[in-house]
Amino acid sequence: MSHSEAEAALAPPCRLAVIGAGNIGAALIGGLLHSGVATPESVVATAKTEESAARLRERFGIRATAGNNLAAVEHADVVVLAVKPRIMARVVHEIRWGMRANRIVVSLASAFPIHLIEQIVGRDTPLFRAMPNIPMVVQEGAVAIACNAQVTAEQRDLVARIFASIGVVCFVEEDQMHAVTALSGSGPAYIYMVIEAMIAGGLKMGLPHHAATRLAEQTVLGAAKLVRETGHHPAILRDQVITPGGVTISAIHELERHGLRSMLISAIETATLRSRSMSEALVEKFAQPE
Ligand SMILES: NC(=O)c1ccc[n+]([C@@H]2O[C@H](COP(=O)([O-])OP(=O)(O)OC[C@H]3O[C@@H](n4cnc5c(N)ncnc54)[C@H](OP(=O)(O)O)[C@@H]3O)[C@@H](O)[C@H]2O)c1
Repeated sequence: MSHSEAEAALAPPCRLAVIGAGNIGAALIGGLLHSGVATPESVVATAKTEESAARLRERFGIRATAGNNLAAVEHADVVVLAVKPRIMARVVHEIRWGMRANRIVVSLASAFPIHLIEQIVGRDTPLFRAMPNIPMVVQEGAVAIACNAQVTAEQRDLVARIFASIGVVCFVEEDQMHAVTALSGSGPAYIYMVIEAMIAGGLKMGLPHHAATRLAEQTVLGAAKLVRETGHHPAILRDQVITPGGVTISAIHELERHGLRSMLISAIETATLRSRSMSEALVEKFAQPE
């Protein structure tokens, strides 16, 4: 394949196969169709059961099958593996003969390292690992991506474009995926707790449910948007909200007393270590004879 042929194959709408289109895979398909990076004709998806495949056909107007993973792969320029980590080895084994230099494979499976996929495939093939998070369902995901040495610059650009349809993309080293999982993968859960607590605080002080909820969610959304749009460090923006002797600094003193920042740093550290040990256990299990 010449360079220009390779580029044409990678131009949108690209032919995409999503293997295991459950929550995350379906959210990705929704984002890709919404942004025009893919069209319903260019996407094929698989699930385990015919019921799930039928739901995908109905929802997106795409081709979807129960199983038949290798046939779906043969249709595609880009293959996204969105099955659960515990069945990844089986699925990679099933599609390995469809994996080649001009076909990109992106795994979304948490804790499943690229070298395990390489080991199952047994030959050089371009591989990516992506860690999106759940706000991708509203096209506001945070996606970290790592890749192996077989990936070309064009393939990297295409994968960045695909995931940009569901949020913000950052490239990282694969070993940093544990910290990514702890920060942005699990991060929405931490922020939901913050929103929940802010609502409870508003309720305690007598605000009606509706107002407390709308004000809390918009405060988090707006504060994040201001960090992004100004490019300022959050400490600078926080300082701008403080009036000497005022209301905000009295609340900040309480938050510092209870160690809010230290708690979040420790949470991300603990979750990073947990992700690393889960991945090591998975690799160890894989190395054991059946
Ligand atoms: N949830 C998150 O926040 C998140 C974030 C980042 C990454 N991830 C990763 O994303 C992956 C998917 O997570 P999820 O939450 O989307 O899981 P999910 O909703 O359970 O989706 C898994 C899908 O795989 C299908 N499947 C099972 N066996 C299959 C087979 N042999 N061939 C083809 N398809 C098969 C299932 O089909 P049926 O519907 O028919 O059972 C289902 O549609 C996981 O590896 C996870 O680590 C998740």
